Amino acid sequence: MPTIRRVAVLGCGLMGSGIAEVAARAGYETHVREVSDDLANKGLASIRKSLDRAVEKGKLGAEDRDATLARIHTTTALEALADADIVVEAVTEDLGIKNEMFRTLDGVCGEHTIFASNTSSLTIADMAAATSRPERFVGLHFFNPVPVMKLVEVVRTIVTDEEVFRTAFEFARSLGKEPVVAKDTSGFIVNRLLVPYMLDAIRGLEQGLASIEDIDRGMTLGTGYPMGPFTLSDFVGIDTLYRISEIMFEEFREQRFAPPPLLKRMVTMGYIGRKARRGFYDYTGDKPVPMKLV
Ligand code: 3HC
Repeated sequence: MPTIRRVAVLGCGLMGSGIAEVAARAGYETHVREVSDDLANKGLASIRKSLDRAVEKGKLGAEDRDATLARIHTTTALEALADADIVVEAVTEDLGIKNEMFRTLDGVCGEHTIFASNTSSLTIADMAAATSRPERFVGLHFFNPVPVMKLVEVVRTIVTDEEVFRTAFEFARSLGKEPVVAKDTSGFIVNRLLVPYMLDAIRGLEQGLASIEDIDRGMTLGTGYPMGPFTLSDFVGIDTLYRISEIMFEEFREQRFAPPPLLKRMVTMGYIGRKARRGFYDYTGDKPVPMKLV
């Protein structure tokens, strides 16, 4: 099986920074590409914070933290990723942006390089078909927060080479994750089930089923979920959830994936969740306070 030594990550946001962190922690030389130095530095700062937290909790030695950070290299140039054995894309959920990057990388990376996408709702085939190496393309879908969540969905398209798939699967395992195999349909396994659940909670709220707090409390106390659907939506990002549901609705044309009007209104108003300090909850005070949305 081909050996992976050098990892490239496209995007150093919430997911990209987490993927870069786990790759570097696992010992890989990790090159992260962002569109500006400012965004690259923000991503690096969040990796540093996460590693510091692991040191404080006694899960990581200070020397290992420093060695992990030394393995992470940031760049704004896609050409700097030419030597990568695997490229993991984690940029915004926009097919045009993703494919423009993959087309450029297709021209600069070696023939052996595996391309992977962390897309949450697009199909891998839609990206693979834009390159000259569709058989070397897989999905590697991580979960937020990446350093904590054990799962990676490894996705094969109808043309993915078997050895490429196995290499990607073992790569996920080498990051300390538990890989599962998923078919290349929008949302794969987890979002196929999770997204309609979160959208249904919003519809319940719109219809006066119960309050934000009580729906969240119902699902945490009644089913043992670590977060209720509104806390989770804010955590994932209301804008991200909206984009995912639009893409999944387009794929399946099923009502259960359609974005409820309230979701759209929240995006318009900039209530996009924790990162904006407002979503279903207001995070500007000491503890989250439910917003008045209906
Ligand atoms: N980075 C690194 N470590 C983190 C972290 C982060 N961002 N956030 C929390 N942690 C660690 C903490 O250090 C702590 O470690 P410890 O057990 O060794 O002390 C552990 O996670 C638990 O954290 P806390 O005690 O601070 O908080 P909680 O117990 O409330 O757990 C949580 C936080 C792990 C986020 C938990 O609430 C949870 O599992 N929530 C559900 C998350 C989820 O469903 N994610 C999937 C979203 S869907 C998705 O990503 C797919 C995409 O396509 C949309």
